Amino acid sequence: MAGTISARTATCGVILHPAGHTRSPAMHNAAFQELGIDAAYLAFDVPPSDLAAALAGMRALGIRQLAVSIPHKLAVMALLDEVNETARQIGAVNTITQEGGRLVGTNTDWQGAIAALERQAGADLSGSRAIVLGAGGAARAAVFGLVRQGASVVILNRTASKAADLAAALGAASAGPLTDLAALDYDVLVNTTSVGLREDASPIPESSIREGSIVMDAVYDPAETRLLREAKRRGAQTVAGKWWLVYQAAGQLEAWTQRPAPIHVMARAFDDA
Ligand code: ATR
Repeated sequence: MAGTISARTATCGVILHPAGHTRSPAMHNAAFQELGIDAAYLAFDVPPSDLAAALAGMRALGIRQLAVSIPHKLAVMALLDEVNETARQIGAVNTITQEGGRLVGTNTDWQGAIAALERQAGADLSGSRAIVLGAGGAARAAVFGLVRQGASVVILNRTASKAADLAAALGAASAGPLTDLAALDYDVLVNTTSVGLREDASPIPESSIREGSIVMDAVYDPAETRLLREAKRRGAQTVAGKWWLVYQAAGQLEAWTQRPAPIHVMARAFDDA
């Protein structure tokens, strides 16, 4: 929050379940403070059975913006006044903004992925060859963003049929099992599988990491995953998962404040949380 809470303070927050650990309040409140925005950002534990009531509450209480986290990103779509085209194509809403009493659903996950690649690693995505590992929700956002930036995208997943469905839905060039990676050359590789989350494991063998490529991991715990450690060793440029989260949060903040987000303040708050 920006300072003293008063009658004018705007409320924002994140809805998720179970409560768990979220660094969104830390990032957003640090940004409010930095920008002098009179707002407070809270975490709301909302079980699925209370989702509709929570949105009615958002409307009634005039909550300015809610980030939508696991497990609500799909279910929330049917409860909003409007879902923008991008969120519809990705098939998930990660942000609800209240505009003139209307609840509008958008998705900044794809922007987060793209901004992290472009701004942290200087990626030139137009015409690049990109690989996305995984075919879940994070993969949908990454593939959407990469295709939008003009990359030729190959989706590889443990369950190859899911990769094929995603490729057809979002205009990726091709799809296959993870083992296809050994035969592929690429400029950018994004891991969206959960492999490496709180474990020292990588979804791919070190030998398939290309020197000079850019490797980004959606996994942010640990900060340096085995994939990123091995990518560095192989001479690839790495982008930690934290940046994806920081830039998607920046997109949320910018959407309602219309002001540039203080990225490094948000990143520091993420580290400290
Ligand atoms: P999210 O919404 O965060 O992307 P998700 O929808 O649960 O999460 O997707 C998890 C992804 O990690 C999937 O692509 C999953 O592969 P499957 O589709 O084959 O299940 C992938 N994944 C999870 N555990 C894995 C493992 N041990 N090896 C390889 N891929 C794995």
